[in-house]
Amino acid sequence: MRAVRRDEYGPVDVLRVATVEPPVPGPGEVVVRVRAASLNMADLDHLLGRPRASRIATGLAHPKNRGVGVDVAGTVEQVGPDVDRPRPGDRVWADLFDLGHGSLADRVCVPASALSPLPDAVSFDDAATVPHSGSLALQSLRALEPIRPGTNVLINGAGGCVGPFAVQMAKARGAQVAAVDHGDKLDFLRELGADEVIDYTREDVARGDRRFDVVLDIADTRSLLALRRCLAPGGRYVLIAAGVGSFAGTALLGPMVGRATGTRLGTFFWRPNQRADLDELGGLLASGDVRPRIDSRYGLDDAVEAFRRLESGAARGKVLVVP
Ligand SMILES: NC(=O)c1ccc[n+]([C@@H]2O[C@H](COP(=O)([O-])OP(=O)(O)OC[C@H]3O[C@@H](n4cnc5c(N)ncnc54)[C@H](OP(=O)(O)O)[C@@H]3O)[C@@H](O)[C@H]2O)c1
Repeated sequence: MRAVRRDEYGPVDVLRVATVEPPVPGPGEVVVRVRAASLNMADLDHLLGRPRASRIATGLAHPKNRGVGVDVAGTVEQVGPDVDRPRPGDRVWADLFDLGHGSLADRVCVPASALSPLPDAVSFDDAATVPHSGSLALQSLRALEPIRPGTNVLINGAGGCVGPFAVQMAKARGAQVAAVDHGDKLDFLRELGADEVIDYTREDVARGDRRFDVVLDIADTRSLLALRRCLAPGGRYVLIAAGVGSFAGTALLGPMVGRATGTRLGTFFWRPNQRADLDELGGLLASGDVRPRIDSRYGLDDAVEAFRRLESGAARGKVLVVP
């Protein structure tokens, strides 16, 4: 079978398509035939070995994981000993972030317990866009509850992998959503349902007069103190941190600043691949409240091009890799 591999940390050119032995499931394991995978910023980070501190876990000189890709949607092809469920033929999806990566392949072997059932109403392509970035959106919005009809929500960095899910989820709850991103993405943000769009290259939302009940910061380019100025009294701010420094800074400073200013500020502990979250996301997809946006589709042989598209920042929605 074919699988996208890398042997070194580095830019997208380190990727190669290898012919490897098909996996054989061990006890408690399942082989999934990959129907679609999608790329996330986490895949680029994994490739580049950034932040550098993450290499303590992923391998100092060379990456321990040669496989690439976390989002996967597919069908169960083979089950190992002691596996009752899922069964061969079942439709499944997962985020392999802490399960060795490797979804950019014809097949991938994973623990049976890592797989969630994929609703029949959801296509493989749509499903593959969701597990990693959809879960980040869901969990970060959960940390900002309550979001009700009329809640004023600002989403900073709304046009990337996570933002389009967050915009649609907030709209599904009846919120008034203002979305910030690059000017080229404003039409895309309007299509997603944003009530107001702001071009960060022209307007600094932190210096304006607008005040929001809720700020979700996905871009992680501004300080906590800057974006706090956008909060209405009693407002809530959550950061999806891009690095250890901003995560630690917000986790430590946020509660103090919040107490002093009558607001709630912080980050959240992301938990990848939660069955309950995937069930909830499956419901949102099946109901049409969240409609995945697919920017482009690439075959395994064009994985380098797929990564270049992700890296360019020009994608409007998710970049799929379909074996
Ligand atoms: N905290 C955790 O536990 C955890 C776990 C997993 C992942 N993460 C992080 O979560 C983030 C996921 O975000 P993502 O995948 O949606 O990233 P993304 O695809 O890079 O999207 C970020 C968006 O923000 C825009 N942006 C850049 N600078 C901006 C600014 N100054 N103001 C407003 N928007 C700006 C970018 O536009 P341009 O194209 O113009 O740059 C891009 O559209 C990543 O940073 C990842 O590292 C955190």
